[in-house]
Amino acid sequence: MSKPVKLIHLAAHFPGVNNTTVWSDPRAGSHIEFSSFAHFARTAERAKFDFLFLAEGLRLREQGGKIYDLDVVGRPDTFTVLAALAAVTDRLGLTGTINSTFNEPYEVARQFASLDHLSDGRAAWNVVTSWDAFTGENFRRGGFLPREERYSRAKEFLTTAHELFDSWQGDEIVADRETGVFLRDAKAGAFVHEGHQFDIHGRFNVPRSPQGRPVVFQAGDSDEGREFAASSADAIFSRYAALDTGRAFYTDVKSRLARYGRRPDQLLILPAATFVLGDTDAEAEEIAREVRRQQVSGATALRQLEWVWNRDLSGYDPDGPLPEVDPLPGEHTVARGRAQVRMYRDPLATAREWRELAAANGWSIRDLVIHTGNRQNFVGSPDTVARTIDAYVQADAADGFILVPHLTPGGLDEFADRVVPLLQERGVFRADYEGSTLRDHLGLDHPDGARGKRAAS
Ligand SMILES: Cc1cc2nc3c(=O)[nH]c(=O)nc-3n(C[C@H](O)[C@H](O)[C@H](O)COP(=O)(O)O)c2cc1C
Repeated sequence: MSKPVKLIHLAAHFPGVNNTTVWSDPRAGSHIEFSSFAHFARTAERAKFDFLFLAEGLRLREQGGKIYDLDVVGRPDTFTVLAALAAVTDRLGLTGTINSTFNEPYEVARQFASLDHLSDGRAAWNVVTSWDAFTGENFRRGGFLPREERYSRAKEFLTTAHELFDSWQGDEIVADRETGVFLRDAKAGAFVHEGHQFDIHGRFNVPRSPQGRPVVFQAGDSDEGREFAASSADAIFSRYAALDTGRAFYTDVKSRLARYGRRPDQLLILPAATFVLGDTDAEAEEIAREVRRQQVSGATALRQLEWVWNRDLSGYDPDGPLPEVDPLPGEHTVARGRAQVRMYRDPLATAREWRELAAANGWSIRDLVIHTGNRQNFVGSPDTVARTIDAYVQADAADGFILVPHLTPGGLDEFADRVVPLLQERGVFRADYEGSTLRDHLGLDHPDGARGKRAAS
């Protein structure tokens, strides 16, 4: 029997602080003004996407003791933006990344339950533990929890939030034309949580929201992170958009579900993916090369090289050869608080390998950084991109993709106009929304028992 065709899930990531966004392009718009968010969300909804996604960053990045000012800086608050977007969209899911390390469950549960009400059941929470020790300095906690503790806090945080969501069952409020709205059950909202991280009791004051519980995403990649997702999440935001790494990640995570009595279709794998379109494959490749040069200016290349060299390289010429001095061993002082630094566990070996690569290809510092950095995931004509995305999903490299355009806010328009119709023609993407909640779009079960619409046809 052949495998049923999988329907593809698509989402749009409004980029925040990052090096994917080409802010120097004359077509690039604001990352703060509401009109940018509204344009992006409306395009995603016009294209029948499952949801819009916002990441979280709670501190201006620094490098070498100075503000890192080569990328987009500054980022408005997630809940405020999503609440405003709820008012200008009808069906699009609204996913916000909110960390469990520096917040409190009561507050976060109220915010998500409220967003779920305001949006008629479109809210989702990407629970992250945060990767930046630096961020903690902005909060009362004053630092960072060790990794194991971050995940045990995350787990208890989510359990506690679920207890709060479930403290209302939905039938406590009765609307009576004569007397107005009244509370039938005096126990509504009562909760008690006694745990290692939280010891709280009281009344939750937001009645049960349309989805019962918002959809839960997870984004950590470690063994603890994957286990957390397998036990508790509805979807994972991953970084594995390539065919081979995607399939390995997919198999690994889905195989963890049975331990928790869960089915493979109860956890969706949705990697972040970038794309470049052209009229032909060759034209798209050409545009992609140009975009990578815009993403990695000479100044950016030097700063990124510092993540490996762990020393000030500002005196080097980005169009010249790689530094002959070796990386500084020991504690990383230049890029304190930058997650990427962890990727280079052996900086001396990386430096050696890169010098050889650069010498063999005649590459400057900037060329090297461009070639070893992230390539766009899907490059080609609309037809090539539609076929490739479909092939990856059918090959179980993903259940769909969270697209990250390099232009904000207009970078999604071309995908909506040229790729989505081809996916619809192939019968692998919805022609219209069939349900109204995000759980409906994602084919997820409803916590109150209703089974989600299945994705497979
Ligand atoms: C694809 C991806 C996206 C992430 N997005 C965010 C984010 O927006 N904000 C944040 O604070 N942390 C984010 N994280 C960090 C995770 O929450 C987590 O703290 C970090 O990956 C360390 O956990 P790990 O060791 O399990 O990977 C992201 C991680 C991944 C893999």
